[in-house]
Amino acid sequence: MYQTILTSLEENILTITVNRPDKLNALNKTVVEELSTVLNEVYSNASIRSAIITGSGPKAFVAGADISEFGSLNSQAGSALAKKGHDYVFDKIENSPKPIIAAVNGFALGGGCELAMACHFRLCSDNAKFGQPEVNLGLIPGYGGTQRLPKLVGKGKAMEMVLSGNMIDAAEALRIGLVNYVTSPEQLLEQTRTLLRTINSKAPLAIAKAIELTNIASNGDADGLQKEIKAFGDLFDTADAKEGTTAFLEKRKPVFTGK
Ligand code: COA
Repeated sequence: MYQTILTSLEENILTITVNRPDKLNALNKTVVEELSTVLNEVYSNASIRSAIITGSGPKAFVAGADISEFGSLNSQAGSALAKKGHDYVFDKIENSPKPIIAAVNGFALGGGCELAMACHFRLCSDNAKFGQPEVNLGLIPGYGGTQRLPKLVGKGKAMEMVLSGNMIDAAEALRIGLVNYVTSPEQLLEQTRTLLRTINSKAPLAIAKAIELTNIASNGDADGLQKEIKAFGDLFDTADAKEGTTAFLEKRKPVFTGK
């Protein structure tokens, strides 16, 4: 039924697996559309009490938005891409009345880190790596990274990650509060399910309200997301963004000129 995601429902827990392992599960248009459809299912299907988002294969959770789709974008199309992601996927995850937990099984970079951060909380395997490497492309995060990362890890660490593009490992992600638990790769899904079994045994209406109120507490300036969408789009009109994305696809280092 889906081309780029796998789903399985067990014990009222829907496991959603982004399934493009050859491209490290990068989020292309189809993945975004299919995640949107499956999220509607999470909202509406009474036999789903909670969901897990994970990635296919041993290497990556999601290595970001699909850079090969960036080539033709200008500022308007860049903002539209970001806004569509927010409306169809990232905000829908955050505002889901049912818990959606990220089981991060490898690289969670750019849109992958942002996807994990949109989830209600995160577990990861000990080989996971997190980062916001958009600056390497002459861009900034466009799926909520500038807004959700400071809320989760504090301004200083978020600033360092977004400005340097450096990755952090699982132990550091645990230390700074980006993930709640680190497990072996083999134990990751089972430990996530164990937590969800506990949550699923509680009253659904109380869980929905708890999510809503906890989101209200952490979303002081919801306008920040709109400003990020605009700034992400604006950067597509720069020469450096063209250079950055082209250099990635040509497997070379970018030469930035400040234009
Ligand atoms: N978009 C599109 N394709 C991607 C991708 C992305 N975000 N991330 C990885 N891929 C593709 C690679 O182009 C490569 O495709 P190919 O085999 O057709 O050449 C394949 O996935 C495997 O990636 P590769 O780079 O060869 O693996 P690696 O182990 O050498 O490096 C990473 C792994 C994660 C460090 C590297 O893939 C990377 O830096 N990815 C981009 C991360 C990023 O900038 N994300 C933010 C985007 S906004």
